[in-house]
Amino acid sequence: LGLDLIVVGSANADLVVAVERRPGPGETVLGSDTSVLPGGKGANTAVAAARLGAKVALLGAVGNDGHGELLLESLRTAGVDTSLVRRSDRPTGAAYIFVTPDGENSILVSPGANSALSEQDVDLADARVLVASLEVPLPTVEHAVAVAVQRGIRPVVNISPMAELSAGTLAALDPVVVNEHEAAQLIGQGADLRGLLDLGPRSAVVTLGARGALVIEADGTHEVESPKVDAVDTTGAGDAFTGALAAQLAEGADLVTAAHLAVKVAAISVTRKGAQPSYPTAEEVRG
Ligand code: RIB
Ligand code: NA
Repeated sequence: LGLDLIVVGSANADLVVAVERRPGPGETVLGSDTSVLPGGKGANTAVAAARLGAKVALLGAVGNDGHGELLLESLRTAGVDTSLVRRSDRPTGAAYIFVTPDGENSILVSPGANSALSEQDVDLADARVLVASLEVPLPTVEHAVAVAVQRGIRPVVNISPMAELSAGTLAALDPVVVNEHEAAQLIGQGADLRGLLDLGPRSAVVTLGARGALVIEADGTHEVESPKVDAVDTTGAGDAFTGALAAQLAEGADLVTAAHLAVKVAAISVTRKGAQPSYPTAEEVRG
């Protein structure tokens, strides 16, 4: 009770291999040893917010296996409340991640237990902000947003990976968070990003990678620049951004102020390997 954030989303074991280049069809490429790291868009978002000091719970699902233990351990160490993490008979979600020397990645997700998170599992405690991402079933997210609206909880959804939200859900979001590719899928390549508001949300935030983010509100658009850093691994940078943004909103920050902190958090995260292990504390962000 008395939470800042409830995050609805996935928890995955990230099986990370560094490769010189991605294998093509029918091709075999040798890579580094495999690192097994805690990931998943939902768990990442929750950990990013908790590391900044927010009181966070994850509503998600893991299996009865070692990967599930790895995820629960990472969440607890960061201070995330795991009482709403369900146990499924399915294996914990796994993400097969190839990281290339430029720090970019390709990810294949096997959702496993994340697919079992149902509408019946949605139990929103008293919180200020709900944050959802879409590696869990869409009806679960749509239901969570509807319940949040009824309870006066501010709903934020990161449309990642891409899925078609209902008009009713979109209209409630404040903000909807997308990257440039997702924005293009929603409103067309090259379209004015302000067109995102025509889909109905109260506000929109577009993450622009190394260039920072764009905050779009009814009364104006603000560019938020990112500090320049050398990227080692961009995995989970978007989740770090969303978690930091939501943590700030829960504290009462306006969207532009929240986005300023969120780009810093994401920039620090890309300078280190992995998703959750790379997220900074509030002290690191200030310093
Ligand atoms: O957004 C990054 C995340 O996507 C990784 O941690 C991986 O688990 C996939 O869900
Ligand atoms: Na990282």
